[in-house]
Amino acid sequence: MSLSRKQMLDEMGLSPQWTLRDQPAVVCGEASARGITSAASPAPRPTPSVETQDSFVESAPERAQHIAGLGWDQLRQSIAECRACGLCAQRKQTVPGVGDERADWLFIGEGPGAEEDARGEPFVGVAGKLLDAMLAAIELKRGENVYIANAVKCRPPGNRTPEAAEMAACAPYLKRQIALIAPRLIVLLGRAAVHALLGEVGSLASLRGKPLAYRDGKNEIPVIVTYHPAYLLRTLSDKAKAWEDLCRARALMRQISRVQAASPG
Ligand code: URA
Repeated sequence: MSLSRKQMLDEMGLSPQWTLRDQPAVVCGEASARGITSAASPAPRPTPSVETQDSFVESAPERAQHIAGLGWDQLRQSIAECRACGLCAQRKQTVPGVGDERADWLFIGEGPGAEEDARGEPFVGVAGKLLDAMLAAIELKRGENVYIANAVKCRPPGNRTPEAAEMAACAPYLKRQIALIAPRLIVLLGRAAVHALLGEVGSLASLRGKPLAYRDGKNEIPVIVTYHPAYLLRTLSDKAKAWEDLCRARALMRQISRVQAASPG
């Protein structure tokens, strides 16, 4: 599927806010990643040389260690039975994540809302429709080389932002998902996702466009930070910025793929 620039903007609902004539000079496919490592990088998956934050707030070390050893089936089972924080009390079901379990792309949101809680799948409500359009804008599709997860796997009551302790309790699950998927690139949707994965490292606005990475053992996985789809539904004027971020993500993925294709082994 090859979309024209206009089609991509239409997919994201950007055309009315941001005409092609006025758009900023971010061009999809242009190299926007800084400091890509050479083909001689010792890491199995070449990644940019970037600031790395490994600041998951660990919950009980033994529990985290146990979760770190689980395979997909055991992980889903463990999430389904989890009672590590108060969010379990009101959930209809847990929402572990959806998609290709060896995807190159990992998108991380905040936590399930009412519809996700009812259906057991992330991003199936209105924000999910926008996320699907954002994926389509960069020629991605839910389930195809894409995995979608959340910082917390249970619905925060009233769709409030998950508390730091709740995200910390869920962190071993997210961490294990990342290790199992081994994505080439992680896109963080909104502040809670940033907080869950990178810690309190700054405002979302200050992190957009910065070279960031999440360290999983020896691997550094590049991270792109952008706005949460629910926020974009309320703040149409920031959709253009999200579009820039997606362009950056796509350019970065292309660079990573090129570097990896060129690297021996
Ligand atoms: N918002 C999120 O962050 N995640 C979902 O799954 C749905 C809405």
